[in-house]
Parts: sequence; C-alpha cells; structure tokens
Amino acid sequence: MNGRPGQIHAAVYPGSFDPMTRGHLDVIERAAAVFDKVTVAVVVNPQKSAPLFTLDERERMICEAVAHLENVNVTHFQGLLADFVKRESATVIVKGLRVVSDFESEMSTALMNRSLSGVDTVFLPSDPRWSFVSSTLVKEVYNLGADVSEYVPLAVLHVMQSKRPAPRPA
Ligand code: PNS
Repeated sequence: MNGRPGQIHAAVYPGSFDPMTRGHLDVIERAAAVFDKVTVAVVVNPQKSAPLFTLDERERMICEAVAHLENVNVTHFQGLLADFVKRESATVIVKGLRVVSDFESEMSTALMNRSLSGVDTVFLPSDPRWSFVSSTLVKEVYNLGADVSEYVPLAVLHVMQSKRPAPRPA
C-alpha cells in the first residue's frame, strides 16, 4: 500500500459471504476505520460449493449489516479479483485471517493478485471472539438446530430464519 500524499485509499474486501458472519462484519468495521473507502465485493459463484444464499440475498444482507458505515459500499464481481480491483481503481485488497493456517493459502493468493493487478493485500487478524466462526460452520450448526444469533448480524439471522426455520432440538 504505497501511499502518495493525498491519495485516497480505496479497499476491496472480497468474499463468498454465504452468509456474512459477525467476524466478516468486524473486519469491515475495522477496515472502514483505516481506509477512506471500502467496497465489499461478493463473488458471484463461490468455488467451494453451491451457495445457500443467492447473490441478491447475500448482497442485501451485507447492505443492511453495514448501513451504519458511511464509507462502505457493497457490490459483486465475477471472474478474476485482480481484474475487479483494477476496474475499481482499488489501492488495497483486505482479507481477514481467522487462524494462522489461513495465512498459508492467503499468502500465495495475495502474491498472485499483486502480480496480476499491482494491488497489495492487507491482512486483518480476526478478533479472537470470532476466530472460530466461519460461514460453513454457521450453516452446519444452524441446519442441525443450533441458535446462531451470536455469530451472524441480525439482518442475516432474519433471512436465515425466513429461509429455513431452525428445527427444535429433540
Ligand atoms: O470468502 P471466501 O470464499 O474465502 O472468498 C474467496 C474469494 C472470493 C476471495 C476468492 O475465491 C476469489 O478471489 N475469487 C475470485 C477468483 C480469482 O481471482 N481467483 C484467483 C485468486 S489468485
């Protein structure tokens, strides 16, 4: 993140957000305090699996959860992140690191993205309160009847409940 005097630091925070968690929200809030502008970029087709939430649902849930942050906007992208950050004239990519092992794959991804776009990645360590919270785990425990209200923003909880009411534990 080489700064020229007066340069606006426009960050892109990319992810699947299927769904957004309190950990994601924490990273966005902290990025918004550091950079002039943060664009939360939802990938159109997460590679991991078929998403539980549609692109529109994921975007709407994030918009609601970040409504209190004036310098944050939400959009989506398809294809290479490197192309998207160039189109957006972003100066930095933000990634959250939940656990040390995340760094291993994120390091090569960051270097590839910088090689392709010239844009560096800044890592924000997850708040320890959320380091065990992932979208995958939230979906799994919710589907098995757990209360996930502690782990997702309210906007997400409402959509989860409307989509698939949590079964009562036997
Ligand atoms: O929330 P996730 O699933 O960890 O986010 C992954 C994401 C969207 C950041 C990553 O899959 C991505 O950047 N996809 C775009 C495709 C791309 O640019 N691939 C090459 C990375 S070097």
